[in-house]
Amino acid sequence: MTDASSLNSRTALPEGYAFLLADYPRAVWEGHPNNGQWCQFWLQRHQMFRDYSAALADACEQLADGKIEAPAFHEWFVPRVNFYLGEIDTHHKVEEYHYFPALAQADEKMRRGIELLEGDHRVVHDLLHAAHGTIVALDAAIRETPADIASAAPAARDGIVALGAGLGRHLDDEEDIIVPLILERTEPVLGIG
Ligand SMILES: [Fe+2]
Ligand SMILES: [Fe+2]
Repeated sequence: MTDASSLNSRTALPEGYAFLLADYPRAVWEGHPNNGQWCQFWLQRHQMFRDYSAALADACEQLADGKIEAPAFHEWFVPRVNFYLGEIDTHHKVEEYHYFPALAQADEKMRRGIELLEGDHRVVHDLLHAAHGTIVALDAAIRETPADIASAAPAARDGIVALGAGLGRHLDDEEDIIVPLILERTEPVLGIG
């Protein structure tokens, strides 16, 4: 993978990766007869990640601005951020072990797209690791050194926003590469239903 196509630097998919998107643009995805149970569930997981990212970053912002008390924040935030980070990890593992191999062999043109998406997962993992560090620091500040919340809360927000930005780009591009293939071939034919 070239640097220009890396998740860290690209602003759009390079030419040719989403090779069926013109035939199956986003406007036709919802309600398409070949948008099966797996695809719908998978798209819902992606949207859940986007929603969690926004809500978790917003909560850190509210804590930083003094709009929510630390104990109430802590009670709301900890189970949700743990769920969010854990589910990203699980989601990537399932894609890498089950779905990516099936999709990569479905079409010669898919192979480099899958390689790009696997590279994305490594970048997202690094962003997740960095965000986790800021979240651990915020948790420690709330429990042990409340004076540090003023700096730890914005740092956690920034870590979550950075993760959400990289993950969001990945999710959009992953959908643009994979959903049109599903709509053209169907889930059972691809062996992913
Ligand atoms: Fe992915
Ligand atoms: Fe995904």
